[in-house]
Amino acid sequence: MIKKIGLLTGGGDCPGLNAALRAVVKSSMGMGSEVIGFKDGYKGLVQNNYMHFQPGDVSGILDRGGTILGTSNRDNPFHFKVELEGQTEYRDMSGRVKENLQMHDISCIVLIGGDGTLTSGRDFARMGLKVVGIPKTIDNDLSGTDYTFGFMTAVNTATDAIDKLHTTAESHHRVMILEVMGRYAGWIALESGIAGGADVILIPEIPYDIGKVALNVIARKNAGKNFSIIVVAEGAKQAGGDMVVCKVIKDSPDPVRLGGIGNRIAEELEQLTGIENRVTVLGHLQRGGRPSPFDRILATRYGVAASEMVERGEFGRMVCMQGGEITSIPLEDAVGKLKTVPPDGEIVSIAKSLGVGFGD
Ligand code: F6P
Repeated sequence: MIKKIGLLTGGGDCPGLNAALRAVVKSSMGMGSEVIGFKDGYKGLVQNNYMHFQPGDVSGILDRGGTILGTSNRDNPFHFKVELEGQTEYRDMSGRVKENLQMHDISCIVLIGGDGTLTSGRDFARMGLKVVGIPKTIDNDLSGTDYTFGFMTAVNTATDAIDKLHTTAESHHRVMILEVMGRYAGWIALESGIAGGADVILIPEIPYDIGKVALNVIARKNAGKNFSIIVVAEGAKQAGGDMVVCKVIKDSPDPVRLGGIGNRIAEELEQLTGIENRVTVLGHLQRGGRPSPFDRILATRYGVAASEMVERGEFGRMVCMQGGEITSIPLEDAVGKLKTVPPDGEIVSIAKSLGVGFGD
């Protein structure tokens, strides 16, 4: 009997999703299976909105950003928004998902997602469904894997922005502040900051003191450097303070959307130093566009590994990279606790050795 595999991409998009789903489809079909893709993340799985993949559907998408399946970071199948007679209600639709899979004769599902998508994946596995997870997110904050795909492309984008800000900062003798994504983990700020030669890097894991940031900038000025570059993760916060929330999206599993920390720092810093500054918010540019070769390769390795796990009957697990090798871990161990930057870890400490300030 031909094996049928369900596939979806869930959560915020990132570069490399198409490369990953292409790898799942090509390698699964190569092993004689059929792949049914559900559209717009869990929404398609609940509402039975799907496509039967044909080999041609994944041609020419390796280098394309986004996901041809669509995605959503608002839909939790265990707490799913339904409109009934003008009223909004939230219902557990996991039973409907099971029925939809049975109707298609789908024996297992491959979920490409971050913590939210894979937490639901774990819960489906607890219900007895056969699940394989593939980790993606620009934030690189999933436990149990060295890298999620999407991250390196975001770091490239942020580094490119820092390089550009450097030249204009130098010409105008300004402080340039770049706000990058990273809600609870500062990996993008940290790695792009080091790659781009930032003078100050502010991350959620190391609460900052604005006075210390100002001292950093003034010390540079006193040393004859009339400009500074500050990279700040959107989730960074002042010691004893809170993250800066831009909006709250009530029906999203993680309702908080951050933004505004760059402007807050700019105001306070200008008052303390008297040096003119400008703020750039990189936003969703970090999520769009062509995946880097690293991410294309990683997404492809994950996709093929997931198909092979399906073939071997290894379920309830997420593919991952550990020490450069592709392997897998139980979904139970992959979700629920984020991989954040260790404040005393090697990467922070090499940055500090170079004189980078963290505001601590
Ligand atoms: O989790 C990925 C991420 O890009 C975060 O870095 C960011 O805070 C969030 O998603 C933004 O979500 P949205 O696309 O809903 O604005």
